Amino acid sequence: SFEQSLRPQSLSQYIGQDKVKNNLSVFIQAAKMRKEALDHVLLYGPPGLGKTTLAVVIANEMGVNVRTTSGPAIERPGDLAAVLTSLEPGEVLFIDEIHRLPRAIEEVLYPAMEDYCLDIVIGKGPEARSVRLDLPPFTLVGATTRAGSVSAPLRDRFGVLCRLEYYNDKQLTDIVVRTAEILETEIEWDGAVEIARRSRGTPRIANRLLRRVRDFAQVRGDGTITLSLADEALELLQVDKLGLDHIDHKLLRGIIEKFRGGPVGIDTIAASIGEESTTIEDVYEPYLLQIGFLQRTPRGRMVTKQVYEHFKLEVPNS
Ligand code: ADE
Repeated sequence: SFEQSLRPQSLSQYIGQDKVKNNLSVFIQAAKMRKEALDHVLLYGPPGLGKTTLAVVIANEMGVNVRTTSGPAIERPGDLAAVLTSLEPGEVLFIDEIHRLPRAIEEVLYPAMEDYCLDIVIGKGPEARSVRLDLPPFTLVGATTRAGSVSAPLRDRFGVLCRLEYYNDKQLTDIVVRTAEILETEIEWDGAVEIARRSRGTPRIANRLLRRVRDFAQVRGDGTITLSLADEALELLQVDKLGLDHIDHKLLRGIIEKFRGGPVGIDTIAASIGEESTTIEDVYEPYLLQIGFLQRTPRGRMVTKQVYEHFKLEVPNS
């Protein structure tokens, strides 16, 4: 689909994550030379950094199809067995949110990953017997925002572990320019830099902001995304100079106004601003930690001096 073609299809089109790309290209080349399936790959890191894209790229580079599912979508062992037995040799099975796979299903996965086989129980009671079913060699690509939530036995069965990192402004600018080209939108370099700067190191956010700014350019301007147009549009979208949005503001201001800047426990903040703890931990907090706006202490989260400065508030004496 067109949506899919926005995404890079090969490692050479994929911008950023250089360490991950370089390593993967060696492992892919080696597996192809040996005519084997690529070893299982675990991709981890904050949302929106390209884990799904990378799974598709890996399959393309191996010259095989990818089957996509997710941890919560696989409810019974039979669901997993159905997918595994329908794979062609060498194919990629992508399981998003793999940390949410039920434990009983993880156990079906172990022999599948290790020996390409399934142990299934047929029948009930005294009639029950276990049969071993051979699977074609395949590559499991797992993705998670929380490497720490993947059980040790599952993590140990991945031969390749890749940690995706936040993108820098140059890489995000290149991504914005690339996407604008595909969308056939005129964009000035400064305009692309401004969108990149406000995208929290995250291509998914950069491409979303690009689409919205493009709407403003089309309706309020002459279609070209300039610096001043991007700046005005992003202001209207309530994305601040650092890319922090309404929820980041609520979170940071909440800690300042209700908890004197912290430290405060994650569940306490979550309840006080009406957001899920896991959403804060997986989606909002990682970037705020990265830019030094939040600190994790044994007694909870604290905002830093930079947050008071960003909001033009007086820094309290500690
Ligand atoms: N679009 C989204 N992420 C991308 C990436 N890493 N490289 C190129 N285009 C992208």
